[in-house]
Amino acid sequence: MNELCDLAKDDLLRRGYSRRQMMRAAMMIGGAAAAAVLDPELAWAQDDRPRPAKIQIGLNEFWTGPMAPGVAATAAVASRCNRYWPADDNGRMIITQLVKTISQVENVPEDHISPWPGSNIVLARAVLAYCSPTRGAVQADPTYGTVGGAAKFLGVPLKSVPLKADYSHDVKAMLAADPNAGVYYVVNPNNPTGTMTPMADIEWLVANKPAGSVVVIDEAYIHFAPDYPNGTANHLAIAGKDVIVARTFSKIFGMAGMRLGYFMGRPDIIEKIKSYDGGNLSQMLPIPSVACGIASLTASDLIAQRRKDLVETRAMTVDFLSKRNVRVIGPSHANMLMVDWKTKTAREMLAAFRAQGVEIAGPRWPVWPNVSRITIGSKDDMRGFFEAFDKVVVT
Ligand SMILES: Cc1ncc(COP(=O)(O)O)c(C=O)c1O
Repeated sequence: MNELCDLAKDDLLRRGYSRRQMMRAAMMIGGAAAAAVLDPELAWAQDDRPRPAKIQIGLNEFWTGPMAPGVAATAAVASRCNRYWPADDNGRMIITQLVKTISQVENVPEDHISPWPGSNIVLARAVLAYCSPTRGAVQADPTYGTVGGAAKFLGVPLKSVPLKADYSHDVKAMLAADPNAGVYYVVNPNNPTGTMTPMADIEWLVANKPAGSVVVIDEAYIHFAPDYPNGTANHLAIAGKDVIVARTFSKIFGMAGMRLGYFMGRPDIIEKIKSYDGGNLSQMLPIPSVACGIASLTASDLIAQRRKDLVETRAMTVDFLSKRNVRVIGPSHANMLMVDWKTKTAREMLAAFRAQGVEIAGPRWPVWPNVSRITIGSKDDMRGFFEAFDKVVVT
């Protein structure tokens, strides 16, 4: 349990963690590999390597790499990476620049911003920091797996609450499912459905949740949402509510392999999330990724262009599927569609598409065994998917 600093050990003991659970916490803190254990998406992808498919539309990645200014900034900073904390030509620390840039773009004070190597780690630590044997986690069903994975890994109670008929989070049922939980997890837009939960519902949950808990609002896909840059939960972080607003560079910015994300929340929440390793490990960010992130965040025209391309390609895909009389769950406001095969299982369809060189998501949502998630790729990717579809599916 050496990875846990003494303060963290005291904190976990006080909150009722058993020795076994503390070992698990130490494992979670100690290894980056733990992210793969906790996140079924990554575990799935790793199990299945090598991945020979020509068309990769299984993991909600963006279809092309980082934006051109980000690639240029990455290359330019590489020669300074002999330093742990390099500065730019003007002597300004590059990591500090990231926080300043996020602050400008998001209109959130610098001391409310905490960068991390990806957002999965933030989700897992939120469970560690706010859940315990007596204070569980509550999530939607289906939703993204890391909060649930971390709860199971740590052995804290987990409640999964069905989405509403319109596929938004049922915040009232979530609170009723565990009125004394430590974490309420809302993914907006949701993964795997791409559906939105009204901000009024999120605000209701924040106003009515028990003291000592947090609402984790995961906005991994918010850049694809129709209202963006409006419609974020930033105002809740700024107002000092008990929220963690999680963001990632893995989606619209095309940086999944570069491992960069951040969250916005009150300074004391940031300190608590950082506290489990004394705050040191979490500050070690990959500098090429930081430089890439800074240059990408401010490229608002390119962000808008990517969203436009995505919306067009998603509409083209919905149109194709509706002409084949296939039901799509939604509407999706993100880079994914849930396709209901009705009589075939997601496992069968994964194998059938894989045989055609197309990698779609595997069966990951037990509540919907006959539904597959298809990530929206480039127009060419999707044309390849359509061709494979017509070979695989008899409509
Ligand atoms: C909702 C959601 N949150 C977080 C993540 C993980 O983000 P990161 O790559 O920053 O760890 C994903 C990745 O698919 C996701 O779908």
